[in-house]
Amino acid sequence: MLDTIEITSKSRVYIGDAGALLAELLPERRVIVISDTGVDCLQHELIAPYDTILVGRGESAKSLAMLDGVYRRLIELGADRTTFILGVGGGVVTDIAGFVASTYMRGVEFGFVTTTLLGAVDASVGGKNGVNIGGYKNMVGTFSQPQFVICDVSLLHTLPDREFRAGLAEVIKTAILGDAELFEMLERGTFEALREDKSLLTDVVTRCVRVKASVVAQDEREAGCRRILNLGHTVAHAIEKESSNYSHGEAVAIGIYYMTRKALEHNLISDVDAKRIFALIERYGFDVELPIERKAMLKAIGGDKKRRGDALHLILPTAIGAVEDREVALDGLENFL
Ligand code: GLY
Repeated sequence: MLDTIEITSKSRVYIGDAGALLAELLPERRVIVISDTGVDCLQHELIAPYDTILVGRGESAKSLAMLDGVYRRLIELGADRTTFILGVGGGVVTDIAGFVASTYMRGVEFGFVTTTLLGAVDASVGGKNGVNIGGYKNMVGTFSQPQFVICDVSLLHTLPDREFRAGLAEVIKTAILGDAELFEMLERGTFEALREDKSLLTDVVTRCVRVKASVVAQDEREAGCRRILNLGHTVAHAIEKESSNYSHGEAVAIGIYYMTRKALEHNLISDVDAKRIFALIERYGFDVELPIERKAMLKAIGGDKKRRGDALHLILPTAIGAVEDREVALDGLENFL
C-alpha cells in the first residue's frame, strides 16, 4: 500500500516500492545520483541507470573536502541547472546530496530514496542537510526541501542489526515526543519483530514520518517547536564529538536516557513514565551509560550549534508523548545537567 505524507506544499514523503515510485516521480530530465559504495553494492539495480557519484561512508564523509570532490565531479559530468540530483542512501548520503543540490549552481531540484531506518524516520525528512566541521555536527548546511523522499521498507532488510537498531533510537525519540500509541506499540514489540514484520515496520515508519511532518509544517526552519525533534541530540552530538565508538543513533539513545534522568531529577516527569522510557531503551538493546567524561560533554555542548548566545535549549521528556523545551543559561548548564 502506498502512503503519501505532505511535508510542505512542494515536498512529500512516499512510503512504498522505490523502483515504481522513481519511475513515477523522477522528472524527464538528466538525473545524477549521489550514493555510497554500500548502496552501490546492495541496491545496484536502483541506481544503475544513472550517472552516479559515490561518497564515503560514515560521519567522517560529511566534510567540506568531500563536497569539493562532488562539485568537481558534477562539473565533469556536465551537470547544469536543469539536472535533478537523486540522493540514494542513509542520512550521510542524503545530508551531502541535499547540501550539494541546494548549493550547486545556486540550487537544483532534488529527491531522496532513503535506504536506512534512521534516514526514513528522521534524517532524510524535513529539509535539513549539511556537513560537519572540526567534529561539530552539521555546522554548515541549509534548510532545503527535497521534492520527494521515498521510504521503501523492503530496502531496510539488508541493514546490519547494529544500523537497524541505531534507527530505532530515532523511532523511540519520536514516540516519546509525539506519539504515545507508537510508544505502546514499541513496548509490546520486539527488535526481532520489527526486523521481520514488514507491515509492522511500515506502520512504525509511517507514524514517525507523520509526527515529523506535523512538527516541520509548523516550524520548518527551527525557530521554535521543531527544536523538540532534538530530544537526546545535544548529549548525542557531544558523544559523537568526543568518541568515534558510537553511531549517531546509538548516541541519541544514550542522550534520551540521560535527559530522562535529568527530567526525573528535576521533577518534570513521573517516576512511572521515566521508568517506561528507561525500560523501552533497554528493551531494544542500547547502551545507556554516558561513555564520555561529564566535563568533556559539557564543553562539547557549549560549542553545539543549537546554542543561542549564552543560553541553550534542552529538550526534556515530561510524559509519554510530551516534551518540554527548556532554555538553560550556559552558566547554569553544569548545575542543570
Ligand atoms: N533531526 C532533527 C530535525 O530534523 O529537526
